[in-house]
Amino acid sequence: MKPRITVVGCGYLGATHAVCMAELGFEVLGLDVDAERVTALQEARPPFYEPGLEPLLRKHVENGRLRFTTSYAECADFGDVHFVCVATPQRDGEFAADLTFVDQAVAELAPLLQRPCLVVGKSTVPVGTAERLAPLLADAAPVGDEAVLAWNPEFLREGFAVDDTLRPGRIVFGLPEGPGAPYAEALLRQVYVDAIGNGTPVVVADLATAQLTKAAANAFLATKISFINAMAELCEATGGDVTVLADAIGHDPRIGRKFLNAGLGFGGGCLPKDIRGFMARAGELGAGDALTFLREVDAINQRRRARVVDMAQEVLDRPWAGAKIAVLGAAFKPESDDIRDSPALNVAGRLHLFGAHVTVHDPQAMANARRSWPTLTYADSVLAACSGAHLVLVLTEWDQFREVDPDRLGEVVATRAVVDGRNCLDPVRWRAAGWAYRALGRP
Ligand code: UGA
Repeated sequence: MKPRITVVGCGYLGATHAVCMAELGFEVLGLDVDAERVTALQEARPPFYEPGLEPLLRKHVENGRLRFTTSYAECADFGDVHFVCVATPQRDGEFAADLTFVDQAVAELAPLLQRPCLVVGKSTVPVGTAERLAPLLADAAPVGDEAVLAWNPEFLREGFAVDDTLRPGRIVFGLPEGPGAPYAEALLRQVYVDAIGNGTPVVVADLATAQLTKAAANAFLATKISFINAMAELCEATGGDVTVLADAIGHDPRIGRKFLNAGLGFGGGCLPKDIRGFMARAGELGAGDALTFLREVDAINQRRRARVVDMAQEVLDRPWAGAKIAVLGAAFKPESDDIRDSPALNVAGRLHLFGAHVTVHDPQAMANARRSWPTLTYADSVLAACSGAHLVLVLTEWDQFREVDPDRLGEVVATRAVVDGRNCLDPVRWRAAGWAYRALGRP
């Protein structure tokens, strides 16, 4: 018998995990405390944009393999394996992660657990969280230490979340000490039987290493991006081209070309808050010195946003007040409607505060952007956003923006001036069409 799975927290991570577990043949119950979200999911409407998610959600809601609830009691009764996928945002005014939702999920679930089961943390948490939660779980659960806690960090990327979940690059099992370990490993191997059968590497670790793995992976990715953005600063000082430099160093397999795209830098709900949470936790552990370099990674990243604003100022042929600016992009990256810590909206907001009239277009993130940034103006198409603009900024590298015809766009703008914040346009083509073209780290 396949274990029955519950997923606590149906955000970007949890909803995708629940849908993909159903696709892998498991019976799944997703829980969220937000009743509206549960209704939407139960009606096969994903509460966010993620390519490929909607058809699978529909398929498994319709065949009954996937259901959603707001009831922890139903969850406890249903599941053999409970995945905790709730958010761990940055605490207001601090670097540390806010663990309220993780703590709440375990506190709500534990007293209802009447039979042996595995609780698996997937949320990104500061190292030490699992060790703190395990005894709380066993103490509160009627079934005692037969409610076992393991950690199984998630590495999915928004925009590729379905594929990353169905075909993960690696699987990490963080196991507790003692008799719970073989039970946890056996159940996790059943959950991931298909991926393991397809040769996906499994790393079996202790709880601390598993939690650290996630923080370390995101810290490394953030460092890689800030490294190439630091090189972009040097390219600007010397007349070099950072895109060519990235290709050149990326050919070395020890370095690799991926995540060396210089531009406006990283945003989203993960990398920025995860490097800060990692620094905060290292400080608490007396190992703060080990991660001081991440301050610089963060600082380089923040400088990118200021640099794009400066560059816009350099190109603009008039004062900010009264200038019409088109911003293409609102999502923190393409193929997503997520605007959490979006570099694009951060820049758009700054220009608005300078007195410019800023019109934003994004293929998917308009509704979210409108809600969070109501003072900006929004347009339903690239041409509408750019109509009459004195300057166009491309701040998220959607394919739709890469494919824009500079001649056609040139007909609707007031001034042919563009800042390519993601190095995603072809400078030769845009300049040939009469555009003043500026990009980060490129002549
Ligand atoms: C990131 C990690 O890549 C995932 O492995 C991890 O599971 C996830 O966080 C998480 O912690 O849940 P995600 O936030 O979806 O995934 O987005 P990324 O693809 O990592 O992009 C992050 C930011 O970096 C974006 O703003 C993107 O535009 C920027 N970026 C990425 C660059 O500026 N340059 C690059 O070369 C790559």
